[in-house]
Amino acid sequence: MRRSLVAGNWKMHGSRGANASLVSEILAAGHGDDGPEVLVCPPYPYLWEVGKALKDSGIALGAQDVCAEAVGAHTGEVSAAMLVDVGCTYAIVGHSERRALYAEDDQLVARKFVAAQREGLTPILCVGETLDEREAARTEQVVLRQLDAVIDVAGLDAFGKAVLAYEPVWAIGTGKNATPDQAQEVHSLLRRRLQQENATMSACLRILYGGSVKAANAAELFAMPDVDGGLVGGASLNGEEFRRICEAARQAGA
Ligand code: PGA
Repeated sequence: MRRSLVAGNWKMHGSRGANASLVSEILAAGHGDDGPEVLVCPPYPYLWEVGKALKDSGIALGAQDVCAEAVGAHTGEVSAAMLVDVGCTYAIVGHSERRALYAEDDQLVARKFVAAQREGLTPILCVGETLDEREAARTEQVVLRQLDAVIDVAGLDAFGKAVLAYEPVWAIGTGKNATPDQAQEVHSLLRRRLQQENATMSACLRILYGGSVKAANAAELFAMPDVDGGLVGGASLNGEEFRRICEAARQAGA
C-alpha cells in the first residue's frame, strides 16, 4: 500500500511574514500519521525558517530545485548537500517551469535527480506534455522520453527512492485540471514503464498528479488507482484549501 503524498509547491511566492501565517495554518490543521505525508517546498531563502517552524510536526520540507553539481564555482546555485543541511528531505526536479523558462533539458534534469539522491534527498521528478504535444497525440512519447532520460542516467532502481509527478503543462496554473481519467491514463503508463523491469519497486512508487489541483477536484483525482497524491501550486498558498486537499487524500485512503 502506497502512502499518498501531498506536496505544496510555493513557487516564487511568500515573504517571512506571509510564510509564518501559512505555516501556522498548516500546523493548526494537525496533519497526523493516519493521513497522507505532507510536504511543503518554499523558495530557497525561507527553507531554514520554515523548516524550524515545522520541526517535530511530521510535515516534510523540500526544495523546488537543486544544482546538478556538488560544490564549487557555481554562482547562484544551491547544492543538494546545502538543502540537506537546512533540513530538506525532498527536492523537485524537472518542473516544467524550469524546463521551459530556464532551458533545463532532459539530461540536466537527470543530473539533478542523481545529485539529489547522492546526498540522500528524495527527488520528485516532474514530467508532462504541453497542449500542442497533447493535441498532436504525443503525450505518451513525451512523458516516456522524460522518464527514460532519467532512467538512462540514474538507473531504474533509483526510482525506489524517488517520487514521480505527472504535471501536464496545460493544466499548471490555468485552473484547467486534467480529468481523473486523463491523469490515470498517464500515471498507469508511467507505472507500467517501470513495472516491466522491477515490479516491486513500481508497485511502491508514488506518482503525484499536479496541475490546478484544488479542494474541489482533489477527491476525484486522488480516487484514481494510480494517483498517489498531488503536487499543488496555487492552492497550497491557501491554508484552508491545502488542508482540504490533504483531507481528500486521507479520505481516498492515503
Ligand atoms: P498549480 O501548479 O497547482 O498552480 O497548477 C502545480 C505545479 O506547478 O506544481
